[in-house]
Amino acid sequence: MKYLIETWGCQMNSHDSEKLEGLLLAAGHVAATGVEEADLVLLNTCSIREKAVHKVFSELGYLAEEKKRRPLLVGVTGCLAQQDQAELFKRAPQVDFVLGTMAIQQLPALLERARAGQKRVMDTALYPDDHLFPADTARRASTAKALVSIIEGCNHACTYCVVPTTRGPERHRPWPDVVAEVRGAVAAGFREVELLGQNVNSFQGGCSFAELLDRVAEVDGLEWIRFTTSHPMNFTPALARTLASNPKVAPFLHLPVQSGSDTVLRRMHREYTVEQYLERLGYLGERSEDLCLSTDFIVGFPGETDADFQATLDLLERVRFDMSFSFIYSPRPGTPALRLQNDLPYPVQQERLARLQARQTELTLASNRRMVGRTLPARIETEGPLDGGHWLARTANWKNVHLQVPAGSQLPFRELVPVRITDAGPHFLRAELA
Ligand code: 5AD
Ligand code: SF4
Repeated sequence: MKYLIETWGCQMNSHDSEKLEGLLLAAGHVAATGVEEADLVLLNTCSIREKAVHKVFSELGYLAEEKKRRPLLVGVTGCLAQQDQAELFKRAPQVDFVLGTMAIQQLPALLERARAGQKRVMDTALYPDDHLFPADTARRASTAKALVSIIEGCNHACTYCVVPTTRGPERHRPWPDVVAEVRGAVAAGFREVELLGQNVNSFQGGCSFAELLDRVAEVDGLEWIRFTTSHPMNFTPALARTLASNPKVAPFLHLPVQSGSDTVLRRMHREYTVEQYLERLGYLGERSEDLCLSTDFIVGFPGETDADFQATLDLLERVRFDMSFSFIYSPRPGTPALRLQNDLPYPVQQERLARLQARQTELTLASNRRMVGRTLPARIETEGPLDGGHWLARTANWKNVHLQVPAGSQLPFRELVPVRITDAGPHFLRAELA
């Protein structure tokens, strides 16, 4: 069959799509160039916010029309599949099969059943851990860094979050398997890896996460290691030391804080106060000029007062995050926060989000401007120039670089080149070859 995989959501989902693609290829299927050509469309979905779910249903609407015209199998996997399970067949009768997040290796079997004409085929079971971390399965996308999963699921219980439901409890991959996969990625031409998990720093696959970083760093030919994402309560002094001292660990930390108000943090069940969050940032010591610090915020959480929101702005000012991702609270099915009284008008939530984002844009611009004039290595992330004539590159601290080179120049995809930063905007740096 000719397949098309459409992916929404986080890095974990992108990497799951690489695994799913590997499974389809191994079963003898081939990639389609677009929906029109596909015999199978597999939607790898996200349900973190309602908006993500809307996008999936809008695509399902389109596929229903397509199905009226010709034979087409539609499969749904990812977080929405795990969350809705058999409900999905009712909400969207055009769906032929549902594959849970913890059963991805069942894809070929499920597909065969659906092809044989079986209706409403589903597997959303929790399989043994080796199911989640199949070795050598992923067909890696043509990106500059290789994604490697090290931990699945989440043992925290944030009241707003679907992930503990959609991804299950924590399961850890044995560290030698992680190192072996990284070695394989380097042998295949990657110089950079990103270790993935809903909460990587609670890793317990035979060593701590800080130790895992050191062990992965020993792989010859590997240049940079990144990781995402981290819970502040699992951020340890040892990890901060590794981040500061291991030259292969890229100087970038994403540490979601969510709110600057203790009252809201308590209602979110984040397990820390603002002081405790700041204490953990303190593990980093004097923040080096290179370290880029990023976070997530949820605004308009049920009961968030003007004073609570002001506390979030105050925290932003105090920490001066280099970047942040911020979202309006979205009520999710099955989450404890649904029981909280949620009567903040949407315009108030929107106004708060806009204020937070406007200030962050200024802080990010200031952070980017500090890079101007510096010469440093950046990794080439595209195989050719983009429409503007520039190439995309990325610094170790994860800043986007638009690299201007003379027309006709060839740059080495996935490799480091020395660049000189000439200008900065809020979203990217401009640079030339040094
Ligand atoms: N509503 C809004 N934002 C959410 N996030 C997680 N759940 C929700 C929700 N229900 C945000 C958090 C998290 C990021 C991945 O998505 O900020 O860190
Ligand atoms: Fe979306 Fe979370 Fe699932 Fe990733 S793990 S796809 S962010 S719901």
